[in-house]
Amino acid sequence: MLHAVSSAVLAVTRHLSVREVLQVIVRSAARLLDAKYAALGVPDDDGAFAEFVAEGISDEQWAAIGPTPRQHGMLGAMLREGTPVRLADIRRDPRFEWWPKAHPILKDFLGVPIMDGGTVLGIIFLSNKRTPGGFDEADEELLTLFAAHAAIAITNARLYERGRELTVVEERTRMARELHDAVSQKLFSLRLTARAAAALARTDPERAAEAIERVERMAGEALTELRAVIVELRPAELDRHGLVESLRKQVALLDRLHPMTVAFTAEGEAPGDLDLDLAPEIEVAVLRVAQEALHNAVRHARAARIDVRLAHREAALVLEVTDDGAGFDEAGVHGLGLPSMSDRAQAVGGTLTVSSAPGRGTTVRLEVPA
Ligand SMILES: Nc1ncnc2c1ncn2[C@@H]1O[C@H](COP(=O)(O)OP(=O)(O)OP(=O)(O)O)[C@@H](O)[C@H]1O
Ligand SMILES: [Mg+2]
Repeated sequence: MLHAVSSAVLAVTRHLSVREVLQVIVRSAARLLDAKYAALGVPDDDGAFAEFVAEGISDEQWAAIGPTPRQHGMLGAMLREGTPVRLADIRRDPRFEWWPKAHPILKDFLGVPIMDGGTVLGIIFLSNKRTPGGFDEADEELLTLFAAHAAIAITNARLYERGRELTVVEERTRMARELHDAVSQKLFSLRLTARAAAALARTDPERAAEAIERVERMAGEALTELRAVIVELRPAELDRHGLVESLRKQVALLDRLHPMTVAFTAEGEAPGDLDLDLAPEIEVAVLRVAQEALHNAVRHARAARIDVRLAHREAALVLEVTDDGAGFDEAGVHGLGLPSMSDRAQAVGGTLTVSSAPGRGTTVRLEVPA
């Protein structure tokens, strides 16, 4: 018994996606409480379920049953009421409505809400206890324990999502403001001066030449400002942890959140030692390219494994993000991510190569002189 509980506890902290964690919880609950069927549902805002995992139902049965349930009948009632339900025969309860034709016949039933404070996050329920006599009070207590674990897993996942959205919005606003204040004014006066130079070119070449020198100086200043903005915009994590640690952390996070394996290695001249002293623009470029390449691999590749490698070879820093997924044909795609990675590479004097072919995975390689 302790084993089943602790595997549920470990699942919450292990490198699993939310769905997998919920699956482990449902499976452990079914096993421990000796139930033929077990399921866990997290409602969405449209009367259906955002997540619905079940145990004891084969894939063929799932297909025959049809779509996951709506929030009706007993499930709907439990979501509204937020109290445990223990019944000898669910079909006799007035809250029971119906189930699809291929749905297994459920009889004894135990359902517990998954609570976060006063909010019902979802429900976990069991039915058809294998040992006769149905579910008892001890079963209800145990299932409540599983529900508490599910609550932690769900809350963690939501906190992470919300945190990420906030960071993106904040960073965008800050970037727009910085660029406006520092750079767009400079460029504006630069344009006026260039226009004046053009007007003077025929009539007064000497003053035109002076104006052109001013243009050059202003362009230089704008460049400096732009660099400062870039440095200023460097993700706070770079200051806190440096490039290598920032990458390692992001990779670990993705590994934990998604079903595929995501791994990071850093190597220097001597393996295992990567001592970087990079210009801030380069650090930002490497981090951003890595983020986009990782994001693409996670979103598009359907990979089993993604590797991020950072290496210092001779006078170059090399970042490689490799996945073993679907691959693609670069000629046929029109996103913003790939061009933006190339731009970032060029801006720091580096090169970006994407090697990919349908069915053969993808490697994004950034090489920067360093
Ligand atoms: N690692 C990958 N595995 C499979 N397909 C990929 C991979 N990376 C990119 N692609 C394909 O290339 C397309 C273009 O990628 P790109 O990053 O430019 O745009 P996007 O990811 O679709 O959108 P966004 O502008 O948000 O980045 C993707 O839509 C996808 O079809
Ligand atoms: Mg992309």
